[in-house]
Amino acid sequence: MANLYIHFPFCKQACHYCNFHFSTSTSNRLPLWEAIDKEYEMRKNEILHPLESIYFGGGSPSLLSSNLLSDFIQKVKKNHSYSPDLEITLEVNPDDVEHSYLEGLLQAGINRLSVGIQSFHQSELTLMNRAHNVDQAERALDQISKLFPNFSLDLIYGIPKSNLDLWEENMQRALKYNPPHISAYALTVEPKTVLDHLVNTKKIELLDDALVKEQYDVLVTTLAQKGFVNYEFSNFGIPGFFSINNQNYWTAKPYLGLGPSAHSYDGKSTRSWNKANNTKYLKAITEGILPFDEEQLSRKDRFNEYVMTGLRTLNGISLDVVRQNFGERYGDYLEEQMDRHIGECNLYWDGDSIKVTQKAKFLTDGIAADLFKL
Ligand SMILES: C[S@@+](CC[C@H](N)C(=O)[O-])C[C@H]1O[C@@H](n2cnc3c(N)ncnc32)[C@H](O)[C@@H]1O
Ligand code: SF4
Repeated sequence: MANLYIHFPFCKQACHYCNFHFSTSTSNRLPLWEAIDKEYEMRKNEILHPLESIYFGGGSPSLLSSNLLSDFIQKVKKNHSYSPDLEITLEVNPDDVEHSYLEGLLQAGINRLSVGIQSFHQSELTLMNRAHNVDQAERALDQISKLFPNFSLDLIYGIPKSNLDLWEENMQRALKYNPPHISAYALTVEPKTVLDHLVNTKKIELLDDALVKEQYDVLVTTLAQKGFVNYEFSNFGIPGFFSINNQNYWTAKPYLGLGPSAHSYDGKSTRSWNKANNTKYLKAITEGILPFDEEQLSRKDRFNEYVMTGLRTLNGISLDVVRQNFGERYGDYLEEQMDRHIGECNLYWDGDSIKVTQKAKFLTDGIAADLFKL
């Protein structure tokens, strides 16, 4: 595995929109971290060399002390050969940022931070039930931008009651810190979240789709003017600062995922995922059992994933690659399916690759679904 992902499944409070795996319990945090460490020992032989990226995600891995992170990173570096550009990312919540903590992270070898800002408007942070306030967001970014050359911030658009002005203000306030990378996600109503309940009981009205699309279009043009490349649908980077972790993931490179709910992929056809249950995970690991399920990806699954990530990224879809990797039948099928979208100027040929046109960018997932093999 060329990538190592570690999922730390705890958060201070539950954001109303989030259905990632996390618990707000304050007990068992250390035992669970120790179990992740043990899982690493049990599975370290699965890691392919050289290691290109280590990514601490969650949940809120910035709840972990810099000492714990440091010990783990030192161990991994000792056990594996790694690329000279090894990227080590930590997802950071603004309310966990303090100068001494950032210094500790640098010393631990963490060289990229991904900060969950989401919005610079207090009303929006409150609506989403974020644990931090605007002041904390600004202070965190102020300190991070001075210490870390490589950092990213997450923003969310399409927030209820938002409009174009509020969204533009969010982008401008983010840009003040000169981030070399921004991830911006459209607010999604995930099943069984508080947001889902509030929408179903009509306590919150979602933003009109046309306005969400306008916010996305403004995002793409504003960041392009500032020199960002939209290298994946939701990800924008100054050249030289695209996330290695993300790129490896989208080009189907192998990765090992540790911790509850973490997924792993062998780069060929086996995908596995750990139990998304802290108690069961902890019990299994303590007993020396790896608590994962796995599936074999069929040719059709791999084709559909290639189509989806191809269209979402700068790479596009190469018809030659499709014919080579999936066979002539898949190539012919793709040509037939994409015809209509080329006619409607949603797709275009760029050399031998098929890409989404600027005007159709926001529709990427729907277009990809039309090209799927069912
Ligand atoms: C799972 S979080 C982990 C990072 C960290 N705990 C945080 O919240 O800042 C990663 C990112 O996913 C995005 N996200 C999670 N659920 C989302 C949703 N339902 N709609 C849009 N973005 C979402 C947020 O922008 C968040 O920063
Ligand atoms: S968005 Fe981040 S902080 Fe909020 S619940 Fe999800 S993982 Fe936790």
